[in-house]
Amino acid sequence: MTDTTPPEGDSKQSTAEPTEGPVPPTLGVSISRNGILLGLFALLSTAIIAATYLGTADKITEQKRQARLKALYQVVPRDQHDNDMLTDSIEINSAELGHRKTGSILLATYHGAPLALIYPVTAREGYSGDIDIIVGVNIKDSSVAGVRVLNHKETPGLGDKVDVRKSSWVLNFEGHSLGHPDIEGWAVKKDGGIFDGFTGATITPRAVVSSVASVLKYHHQNVSEILKRIDANRAK
Ligand SMILES: Cc1cc2nc3c(=O)[nH]c(=O)nc-3n(C[C@H](O)[C@H](O)[C@H](O)COP(=O)(O)O)c2cc1C
Repeated sequence: MTDTTPPEGDSKQSTAEPTEGPVPPTLGVSISRNGILLGLFALLSTAIIAATYLGTADKITEQKRQARLKALYQVVPRDQHDNDMLTDSIEINSAELGHRKTGSILLATYHGAPLALIYPVTAREGYSGDIDIIVGVNIKDSSVAGVRVLNHKETPGLGDKVDVRKSSWVLNFEGHSLGHPDIEGWAVKKDGGIFDGFTGATITPRAVVSSVASVLKYHHQNVSEILKRIDANRAK
C-alpha cells in the first residue's frame, strides 16, 4: 500500500489550507468605507423623514384648524353672531362627554347676548373607534343649533354617512332638545327612538345620537356655570 500522508514540513500543503489571521489591508479599507457610507445614508434618510414630517405636520394642523372653523361656522353661521368664539371659551375635559384630551367649549354671542354654546364631544362607541363631534346648543331654549362630525374612521358607504359631506343625516338633530323628544326618543328608530339609522349600519348613528343627548344633559346641568366662567375669562 502506498502511504499518502504528506511528509512533515511540506510547505506546499500548508499554504493550500484556508487561513485565519489579519484581514488584508484592502478588504479592511473597503469594509470601513461601506460602513461610513451606510451610516451617512441612514443619517440622510432620517433627516429627510424628519424634514418631511415637520413640513407636513404644520400643514395637517392648519388643515384640521380650518376644517374645525368651517364646521363651527356651519353650526353657528357668521351672520348670526358677532364675537370671536375662539376667544370666548373655556377649557374642558369631561368623561361624561367622552373626552380623551382637553378641548374648548365656545360661546357665540350677538350684540353681547349669549346665543349658543358649542361643545366638543367624543363618541367612543363608533364602529371603528372614536368619532369627534361638535354640538351647538341654543341658549334661549336649549335646543340643538347644529351637529357636525369633525373626525371619524367609519366605513365608507356605511357609517361615514354621519359626515355631512356624505349625507344630510346629521341635520336631523337641529331644533330638537331634551324634552323634544323625551329621553326615550333620543335613540335610533331600531332602539325605539325617533332618529333614523342607516341600512345595515346602526352602530355609528347609535353612537352619535347618544353623544348628542349627552351634550344636552351636560348643558342642562352646567350652562349657568359655563357662562359664568366664560364671562370671568373675558374680564381677565
Ligand atoms: C366591513 C364592515 C364594515 C362595517 N362598517 C360599519 C360602520 O362603519 N358602521 C356601522 O354602524 N356598521 C358597520 N358595519 C355593520 C356592523 O357590523 C353591524 O352589523 C351593524 O352596524 C348593525 O346594524 P343593523 O342592526 O342595522 O344591521 C360594518 C360591517 C362590516 C362587515
